[in-house]
Amino acid sequence: MAHRCALAALCGALLGCSPGVEDDVGQIPPGSWLADPLQPLPDDFDDVGLYAEPGDPTSVPDRAVPYEPRWPLWSSGSEKHRHLVLPEGAVVDNSSEHWQFPPGTVFFKTFGYPRDGRFIPVETRVMHVEEDGGWGYEDYAWDAEGRSAQKLDITFSTEVTVQTDDGPLAHTIPARLECRECHESAPVFALGFESFQLGPAMDDLEASFSQPNAPAGDIDAGDPTTDAVLGLFVGQCTHCHNGSDGPASAFDLRPDVALANVIDVETESSAMAAGVRIIPGDPAGSIIFQAFSGETEDPEVGDMPPLGIDRRDAEAVELLRGWIAGL
Ligand code: HEC
Ligand code: HEC
Repeated sequence: MAHRCALAALCGALLGCSPGVEDDVGQIPPGSWLADPLQPLPDDFDDVGLYAEPGDPTSVPDRAVPYEPRWPLWSSGSEKHRHLVLPEGAVVDNSSEHWQFPPGTVFFKTFGYPRDGRFIPVETRVMHVEEDGGWGYEDYAWDAEGRSAQKLDITFSTEVTVQTDDGPLAHTIPARLECRECHESAPVFALGFESFQLGPAMDDLEASFSQPNAPAGDIDAGDPTTDAVLGLFVGQCTHCHNGSDGPASAFDLRPDVALANVIDVETESSAMAAGVRIIPGDPAGSIIFQAFSGETEDPEVGDMPPLGIDRRDAEAVELLRGWIAGL
């Protein structure tokens, strides 16, 4: 895919040729926002130029690179489609650990749920790098049939009800401040498109980078359950719990230090009940388990993660319970 994109882009840029008949979704539509992504985003998602077929997140132009983080964020069980669109001819500067994205870079993430054999999109989140290097955050809400989407005012969060195969479901679209709370609490604001999260998938994305990538690190604590728990922390916690100094940064849960920072370690924050983060053998008594599962009567134990959960991940709750019980 990446190679085909690169070829099509090169062919388009150098020779002015069109990439061929099989690729009629291929080009970014002239006049669409993606053709000039330093402008403010349009109200109608159709004018963005990402989906050729309304509501179909697979009908994207060649330059839209799909990717999937190894430890995706749980968002109430929704299905997600992610794309990166770099400006024509531009690449991600990966010469240092903290990758740099050129102005005009755009990330899209569409959330949706299956209904009647079809993916029904609910919202499309957009992060884009502005001319001065700052990041902008926008959100489009789809109509009930998932055929057209309008830009939302995300000064406040918006709760929508989605019809899914499992019945109606509450889905909260975050406010811009909440976007920033999660994204800007990490050193690089693109949270899923970084070496550790991409892992081996980087080999397929090499056309998007300024230079060959160093091999990505992996999680290897020696047993699969511990690895899965450390992966859970990466996906659900380390955008805030990374020991840096962002707006919602807190103690470090990254894989190489997480165990030392949680097992038999007391909570520090005044924002949470006093207690021990993880008590070996005692999930019900461990603050991390209480905060993640919601299984506590103590009103001082806040939910973790504090944002973005309408429905908990039951499988992950059992993983954490079993792991703590077995410690
Ligand atoms: C609860 C924390 C949280 C909130 C709130 C949040 N995000 Fe994210 N977002 C993440 C994480 C973690 C990822 C990467 C993992 C993934 O994609 O599953 C991500 C990924 C993305 C991506 C793909 C690019 C990337 O950074 O990996 C976009 C686009 C995005 N978010 C936009 C938004 C917008 C716009 C908002 C606000 C309307 C928002 N997000 C709110 C945590 C959050
Ligand atoms: C949106 C950012 C964010 C996310 C995501 C998040 N947290 Fe937190 N967490 C915080 C903040 C902020 C505090 C309060 C920290 C403080 O005051 O020092 C906190 C506090 C805590 C505390 C109590 C404080 C302590 O010293 O022990 C625990 C335990 C905790 N988080 C666990 C988790 C776990 C586990 C996850 C993932 C499942 C998670 N958090 C996800 C922001 C976040």
